Amino acid sequence: MKGLILSGGRGTRLRPLTYTSAKQLVPVANKPVLFYGIEALAEAGIRQIGIVVGETHAEIRAAVGDGSRWGVCVTYIQQDEPRGLAHAVLISEAFIGGEPFVMYLGDNLLNKGIVPFVQQFGHEHPAAQILLTPVPDPQMFGVAELKDGKVVRLVEKPQDPIGNLALVGVYMFGPEIFDSVKRITPSRRNELEITDAIQDLIDRGLTVTPHLVDGWWKDTGKLEDMLEANRLILETITRRIDGTVDAESRIEGKVIIEAGAVIEHSVVRGPVIIGAGARIRNAYVGPFTAIMNDVEIRDSEIEHSIVLEGSCVNDLGTRVADSLIGKNVKINRMPLKPSAYRFMLGDNSEVWIRW
Ligand code: TTP
Repeated sequence: MKGLILSGGRGTRLRPLTYTSAKQLVPVANKPVLFYGIEALAEAGIRQIGIVVGETHAEIRAAVGDGSRWGVCVTYIQQDEPRGLAHAVLISEAFIGGEPFVMYLGDNLLNKGIVPFVQQFGHEHPAAQILLTPVPDPQMFGVAELKDGKVVRLVEKPQDPIGNLALVGVYMFGPEIFDSVKRITPSRRNELEITDAIQDLIDRGLTVTPHLVDGWWKDTGKLEDMLEANRLILETITRRIDGTVDAESRIEGKVIIEAGAVIEHSVVRGPVIIGAGARIRNAYVGPFTAIMNDVEIRDSEIEHSIVLEGSCVNDLGTRVADSLIGKNVKINRMPLKPSAYRFMLGDNSEVWIRW
């Protein structure tokens, strides 16, 4: 059995971060989202993993390497354009080589992994097996209609109710899927849709079985979901203080402070993770915050946020919350008059000012 992780795509919903970086490398609790996926596949005993990459291929190759860190062997498969999930399958046929495979969307997170999902496929050998979870707003998802324990229909964003079981970003396929991805045509958004390919399997009389997610699932493709995934993972950490904390600071609850981080005259209230080389001075770091390496938080307060490498938050009058701050960002207070806001923001940035 092989694994296929999709790590190309446009990432429009996470702009401006995705102008300069792969969204699959945004850290959740200071670890790239993609690494959770590789770990889930490795835990399910999969050793040969293909990673579909797009224009951010160099960054992904540099971060993942040959996979030996996880005991797996990684092959990179270049996609010329984000032409859809089924297109990513189509271009991976030579790598898959007729074996069954797990397809895993590189920006998805599952807290309980995929071991029971892979085992069920091994027992039943359907043409495809899809992972489903009940959602309160099925009209926002691809939804599966079930009958007698099998999938009979898939509908993208259904207007009329056909159930509340949404497709989660993990699939299992036998080699039959390759005929289907060749038979379908691009959708209205000009992509080869994986739901169309799975519907084609059903229409050809082949078996597609459902598997319900045990635990939580998150697609980290947009800001709120990224912050929520960060919150869910931080809830599971165990306290470990390897950095330096001075006598005037208080570290409360589940907090990880990596070696080389320095905390001075500050309160850190977990769950929080603070990366190596970070400097926290005269600051408050509140629950559900992940601070990456070499970040400086000085004379400021922050909570429920993710701050990437090398950024500085200095001397702010108001607490920062619910924020995703990219790499090497500088947020400062202007010491001089006139008292005005001064910005240098990339395209599609969002700023919310208290009034
Ligand atoms: P999506 O999040 O559905 O698409 P996207 O990455 O283009 O994002 P957005 O909608 O914000 O523009 O993709 C799910 C995963 O699959 C993600 O990790 C990117 C990957 N992907 C590919 O590798 N190739 C593709 O052609 C597409 C569409 C997605």
